[in-house]
Amino acid sequence: MSKYTLLMLLLIAAVAQELTETAAQDLPEGFPKCKRDANFDKCLVDAVNVAIQQLKAGNKEFGIPPLEPLTVKKLVIDAGNAPINLRQALKNVKVHDMISTSKIQRYRTDLDKHLIICDSRTDRIEMIGDYEMSGRILLLPITGHGKANVTLINTKIEHRLIGEPFEKDGVKYMRLKDYRVSFDPKRVYMNFENLFNDKTLSDGMNRFLNENWETVFNELKVGYAKSFGIIFRELSNKLFEKVPFDNIFLS
Ligand SMILES: *[C@@H]1O[C@H](CO)[C@@H](O)[C@H](O)[C@H]1NC(C)=O
Repeated sequence: MSKYTLLMLLLIAAVAQELTETAAQDLPEGFPKCKRDANFDKCLVDAVNVAIQQLKAGNKEFGIPPLEPLTVKKLVIDAGNAPINLRQALKNVKVHDMISTSKIQRYRTDLDKHLIICDSRTDRIEMIGDYEMSGRILLLPITGHGKANVTLINTKIEHRLIGEPFEKDGVKYMRLKDYRVSFDPKRVYMNFENLFNDKTLSDGMNRFLNENWETVFNELKVGYAKSFGIIFRELSNKLFEKVPFDNIFLS
């Protein structure tokens, strides 16, 4: 092989590499697509329900980690409002059942405004991790660290995906700049092991928290929603930033 041929081959390899790195991608195989017609919002319900279940094991090509269970390094919940004035951190969290028991029920989209609103229902969200907590709940001081289990049953979730357009190589994409979540569970079970470093006090406080779960969770849920909004936004953008707008939403 002459020096010249070798040089050409290297050049071609370099260009090919460049192309694959910047080339627009299509949605993962098997993802249903929807046409932007009168039936669009309905079509999206079925399409996204199929897509989410396909993503359970993650997707290497798009850098999406396994979602069942979903691993979360840290969830920090700050609730500054009386009567609950609490700082709670959950670390090394595994979120079980959230993906497999979720069903999207309705979409309301306005793609001209890059706005997607959706309602979903999730039978079970079981968060297991290490907690640290200090502050007050219903005027009572609470402090501790150990294993935590926070489980939400039958949760209605509203998702508001607020997108913005951007261009890459003259092609239109949409990324999410905000992903707002609100949770409305039918029941929340909480268990924080080792509160106050004392078994009897801990058992008593856990009983109290569960008896008053609605009041307690109402103060915490904005914090949980914020954390999940950030997680959902990052996951969604792994697709949105790689697949052109018109490849996701067919014209
Ligand atoms: C977490 O709590 C829920 C609700 O009480 C319970 O069903 C589940 O078994 C618990 N999970 C673990 C790992 O203890």
